[in-house]
Amino acid sequence: MKIIIALLSLSLTATIPAQQIPDRDTRIDWWRDARFGMFVTWGLYSGLAGTWNGKPVPSDTNLEHAQRMVNADTYTYAAQAIPKFQPKKDFATDWARLAKQAGCRYVVFTTKHHEGFALHDSKLTQYDAGDILNRDLVREITEALRKEGLRVGFYHSVIDWHHPQYDYTRAKYPPYPQGNIAMTHGPRDHNRYIKYLHAQVDELLTNYGKVDIMWWDYSSFGFDGDKAWKAGDLMAMCYRKQPHIIMNNRLFRRPEAGFSMDGGADLSHPLDPKYGDFGTPEKYIPDDMDAKMDWETCMTMNHTWGYSEHDHDWKTAQTIIRQLIDSASKGGNYLLNIGPKGDGSIPQPSIDIMTAVGKWMDVNGEAIYGTSKSTLGKPAFDGRITSKGKTHYLHLFSRPESGQVSVPIAGNKAVLLADGKPLKVTTAKDRTTITLPAALPDPMASVIRLD
Ligand code: GLC
Repeated sequence: MKIIIALLSLSLTATIPAQQIPDRDTRIDWWRDARFGMFVTWGLYSGLAGTWNGKPVPSDTNLEHAQRMVNADTYTYAAQAIPKFQPKKDFATDWARLAKQAGCRYVVFTTKHHEGFALHDSKLTQYDAGDILNRDLVREITEALRKEGLRVGFYHSVIDWHHPQYDYTRAKYPPYPQGNIAMTHGPRDHNRYIKYLHAQVDELLTNYGKVDIMWWDYSSFGFDGDKAWKAGDLMAMCYRKQPHIIMNNRLFRRPEAGFSMDGGADLSHPLDPKYGDFGTPEKYIPDDMDAKMDWETCMTMNHTWGYSEHDHDWKTAQTIIRQLIDSASKGGNYLLNIGPKGDGSIPQPSIDIMTAVGKWMDVNGEAIYGTSKSTLGKPAFDGRITSKGKTHYLHLFSRPESGQVSVPIAGNKAVLLADGKPLKVTTAKDRTTITLPAALPDPMASVIRLD
């Protein structure tokens, strides 16, 4: 019996053939319905807030890479950053409430970013919240999210600038902090880092109950998958621990896994489950109405993922709401980032944006949740369409001068979601024309439900 179990567990940790991965449609169903999630980029860099030695870090983007941008070794970095990372009590409750209020159905948060600092209480390192703060921030966050009924996603960086065996000469991107100083401690044994990576993910998937998403970040061309991370084994372990889990495609970076050669997303073919479940366009909504794989755009509200006190260039709530609509109208999800400060508090502009999105979603959520891309193609009016079976949602960004919009399908009932009032429809054979009120109710986007 023991031998059989040993053999079984051996075969389970070997690279998984795609057919052994639990059925994707079953696993991902809730996520396709959800359409909208919150991303949280938070770690030691958050306390630095884009400032190093009293001066702004020379970048207005990706401040979660502060260590790299100031070329600091891990000890110098930690010495400045740790004292500034002082999460206040119950910070996670505020995150969870905000996400819920905004209409997000799930939250993906950083369990470890490229700097290597683990937000959980890890037995494998002292560079973690357990040792440094005597807290388990991953537990605090997951519990707060679950209290609000939100699904839980773990962002986990496979890149690690702290681990002494992470071989930055092979893992070229992003560049290693102080990478110009060659191998000061002798050649690195990357396999030892891979063991550590797997063991930490094991902790994360063992000790925190149900985890809905693993959000990996990220690989380079030529150094990805099994070669870089023993990805097959890693994914097999995830399915063993959490059979229903879904994952993004960033343990890989190759055309078959949904990447174009310029490094962007290529959604034009189906994604084999052995590469993950969804593609990850970053900071843009693809133009493509014909994506052949599930996808999720991750988006910042200003320029940076991690908090910066210098970046005040915020998108408007209108832009954000329309991006959410745009994603849904093309069949994609929208993962909207916040970058809390070192004490866990959320920057006010982010609170304002999330609140505005929530107000819009309260009225118009049914035009986002559970919808698919527009089955009527691209609209002829200024706006977008989402579809749900025989119901179509017309998201109007402005009022056409004609005072009418028309769509290529015969419909019989149109109402504005804002007030539930029926609008006049005229239906020719395969076309419906809807007469609009003198003014549209919502400058963000006014939605008409057409049955
Ligand atoms: C990139 C950046 C990383 C950020 C991520 C979000 O991979 O390197 O800092 O968290 O994008 O998608």
